[in-house]
Amino acid sequence: MYHNDKDKTAEGSADAYSLIQITRIGDDLNLMSAQNRSSFANMNTTYTSAATTEQYLDQILELERMSKQGESYSDSHGRYGWRNPVRGDTGPILTKLVRDSDPSRILEIGTGHGLSTLYLAQGLTAQGARIHTLEFDPEVAKSTQERMDRCAAPVEVIWGDANQTIPRLSGSFDLVFFDAQKNQYYNQLMLLIHHGLIGKGAMLVADNVTDRKIECQDFLDWFDQEAIPHEIIETECGLLVAHL
Ligand SMILES: C[S@@+](CC[C@H](N)C(=O)[O-])C[C@H]1O[C@@H](n2cnc3c(N)ncnc32)[C@H](O)[C@@H]1O
Repeated sequence: MYHNDKDKTAEGSADAYSLIQITRIGDDLNLMSAQNRSSFANMNTTYTSAATTEQYLDQILELERMSKQGESYSDSHGRYGWRNPVRGDTGPILTKLVRDSDPSRILEIGTGHGLSTLYLAQGLTAQGARIHTLEFDPEVAKSTQERMDRCAAPVEVIWGDANQTIPRLSGSFDLVFFDAQKNQYYNQLMLLIHHGLIGKGAMLVADNVTDRKIECQDFLDWFDQEAIPHEIIETECGLLVAHL
């Protein structure tokens, strides 16, 4: 069931409110980078109920241990990539972005083993809020869905190539997190717009826009061309945050 059908207008506008919001998020986070991010992570865990937090944290710790190994994949089109989860500085930022914007429907593109999904889930507060997350590797999609179910996270893992599953989604999303192949960010954004899945007010977040900038340059250029308010938070990999 979908919970929030917002305005499906795909045009963005540089409205002052969005700019203020983004600037404020950026300021908070720059301040945090000068302090201790791990203490922020601890602080952040108060966003969900105590029981849920414990359950998510167990899974987060397990995934952070696993992530040290790194894992490569190639898809059915022969496209190659690394299944690297979000870095330690990025997860708590995802939680904060969700917490501050209070979305009802989140779409994640690139589930992997679900570390970023759990960080996103930690920030959810809206009644009935859900995360839909897209993953093309069937084994990974299955095991991550089981992980989410074990900790009762309101997450649906959708198996398939995002370029094919996005057009089959319905309703609209308040927040989209891009973290699959970097050279597909632009195509996936266009699909979301074309199919009316994001509208004015939606928040777009994308990882690796600094360390993999060349691969997602067309995506980055779009925000400038369309004058969409955005900011790149200086994490290890670079995190874009924009408001349509
Ligand atoms: C960088 S990893 C995601 C990491 C995850 N967001 C995290 O932080 O834990 C990218 C994932 O996206 C998946 N993927 C890559 N291209 C995809 C596509 N076109 N459609 C669906 N999933 C894709 C890969 O199988 C991989 O698991």
